[in-house]
Amino acid sequence: KAEPPLKIMISGAPASGKGTQCELITQKYGLVHISAGDLLRAEIASGSGNGKLAKEYMEKGQLVPDEIVVMMVKDRLSQTDSQQNGWLLDGYPRSSSQAAALKGFGFQPDLFIVLEVPEDILIERVVGRRLDPVTGKIYHLKYSPPETEEIAARLTQRFDDTEEKAKLRLKTHNQNVSDVLSMYDDITIKIKGNRSKEEVFAQIDTALSKMLQQRNNTSPSS
Ligand code: AP5
Repeated sequence: KAEPPLKIMISGAPASGKGTQCELITQKYGLVHISAGDLLRAEIASGSGNGKLAKEYMEKGQLVPDEIVVMMVKDRLSQTDSQQNGWLLDGYPRSSSQAAALKGFGFQPDLFIVLEVPEDILIERVVGRRLDPVTGKIYHLKYSPPETEEIAARLTQRFDDTEEKAKLRLKTHNQNVSDVLSMYDDITIKIKGNRSKEEVFAQIDTALSKMLQQRNNTSPSS
């Protein structure tokens, strides 16, 4: 049972459900969730110079420069837990230069998941999103409301979750998406993201189970 751990990337427009699906995937498959956006927000919270610079780009819905993002992601992927348990990379790469950098470091994903959601739905998801600072869980006021009043009272909103900023983030996404997709053609699966989060996860779960089964059937390792 010496199967190498799974290495997965998940991509999609702002609020397409990447973080939500990552919660469900890690629960079942035990992978380490590495979110480029979360790493950047932690850097901002630390008060570092890089964090301050990153925030200027995030405020405008633009990509943070590679000099900041690439090493941050590389370092997290290199840590022991990611190497031992496998990883689920969320929101990286967002450009061909980021994809090339990762490849240069020797990180090759087994699967590239793309969540497809119509644009008119994304904005509603962004403005209704709330986060629990205690558990890190993602909520939506309408689609995924908090379970208790205690949680409801402590929910926070991201600084870039306004309609105006979401539109800028979407524009950036649309400018870069085809470059990134073309680099992973052979390992890409497209998932319909405009369904309940359980239904979206069921599609991903089926694809992952199939992939693991194929591996077991073809792998020469015992
Ligand atoms: P990041 O934090 O990655 O933001 P994003 O890509 O805009 O994606 P989101 O986190 O907004 O959405 P999500 O897809 O995770 O959706 P979620 O599951 O929360 O990046 C932020 C910024 O950092 C970027 O703009 C950029 O500046 C910078 N950055 C990040 N990575 C970078 C990189 N590689 N290079 C350079 N810069 C980078 O769901 C959204 C809402 O919808 C929630 O409320 C949720 O409850 C709800 N929801 C989810 N699924 C469903 C469903 N199926 N039905 C109904 N509601 C649902």
